[in-house]
Amino acid sequence: MKTVFITGASGYIGGDILTELIEKYPVYNYRLLVRGERSKAEIKSVYPSVSIVCGDLNDSDILTEESAGADIVIHTADAADHLSAAQAIAKGALKMHTPDRPLYWLHTSGAGLLSFYDEEAKVYGERSSRIHDDVKDIDEILSLPDRAFHRVVDKTVLHAGAENPAVLKTAIISPTTVYGTGRGPCSQRSRQIYEMAKFILKENKIPVVGRGQSIGSNVHVRSVTRLNMHLFEAAIQQRDENLFWGSNAYYLVEQGEHCWGDVANSIAQKATEEGLLSEPHERIELDMKSAYKLAGFEATSWGYNMRCRASRARSLLGWQPSGLSLDDELPQIIREEYNRLQQD
Ligand SMILES: NC(=O)c1ccc[n+]([C@@H]2O[C@H](COP(=O)([O-])OP(=O)(O)OC[C@H]3O[C@@H](n4cnc5c(N)ncnc54)[C@H](OP(=O)(O)O)[C@@H]3O)[C@@H](O)[C@H]2O)c1
Repeated sequence: MKTVFITGASGYIGGDILTELIEKYPVYNYRLLVRGERSKAEIKSVYPSVSIVCGDLNDSDILTEESAGADIVIHTADAADHLSAAQAIAKGALKMHTPDRPLYWLHTSGAGLLSFYDEEAKVYGERSSRIHDDVKDIDEILSLPDRAFHRVVDKTVLHAGAENPAVLKTAIISPTTVYGTGRGPCSQRSRQIYEMAKFILKENKIPVVGRGQSIGSNVHVRSVTRLNMHLFEAAIQQRDENLFWGSNAYYLVEQGEHCWGDVANSIAQKATEEGLLSEPHERIELDMKSAYKLAGFEATSWGYNMRCRASRARSLLGWQPSGLSLDDELPQIIREEYNRLQQD
């Protein structure tokens, strides 16, 4: 029986993946790294058969031991940025695995990597025509310097896989802005667009960074899970086509694009139509510092262009997005944020 070690199951992306995995493959041995008592209880009440590994990402020995014992690792917990966790998983991969029983590592990163270009130019809220394709532009994407967001951890994962291809099969799943209600047992809420909706509903103001012209790619959480499922199924079948795993196995995940200023307007308009907001709405232009101050780290993404194409997943794995478009999901996002605000 396959052993699957998962981090971040109490979170949004990890929880959604867990839910679909258990539905489709209930008999596997699922071992989940969980740190909070409440999360442990919530997960166990929904999925009594899973094993909880109590611990934190900083417990490197635990991560190494669990990875050594697993057939598949699905690492989502702060995976894009937690360096020592990635190093500990890489170490575990080399401990017990053999070419007959390699470790498959599905690592969640993020297309925030592509904020590099605006960050270098210090230009925020202006539209860029540049779109990064994860097949055509893979060499450029994978040679961004270490100061690019997520890059150091991405490199650690890719190098570990490239140096030990017989025993470690790595794939980086790199979502753009994720939206849609998660199905996990604990958190079901994403970040950037939810924080924007919350801010608009709370303050009755339309926030834009700079001129609000920057464009982001986006993807429904179910589409992210679907890509994980494609790779999971390739792993259980031990499909070792070189292109699936290894040094170029960096999968951007997107299904649409939005202009951040338009999303802000659209949230205000739809919320007004629903009677959740009153007119007029003041438009406020923010620089990155004030965006951060007003609405936290997630608000800085409103100022970046992060445009990309998920050609690798489509062409290699036959992946297709499965969730609603952002536009179709917006009314639900607004309602959920409104309800959360009522409970605060
Ligand atoms: N959501 C997006 O739009 C998006 C887009 C691109 C990339 N990503 C990347 O995807 C990854 C997952 O994001 P998410 O949206 O699912 O985040 P999330 O909802 O905040 O979930 C994070 C998960 O990681 C766990 N975690 C965090 N730090 C931990 C630690 N030190 N030890 C143990 N567990 C820890 C959390 O546990 P607790 O429940 O105990 O806090 C939770 O289970 C992140 O690396 C993020 O940067 C997200």
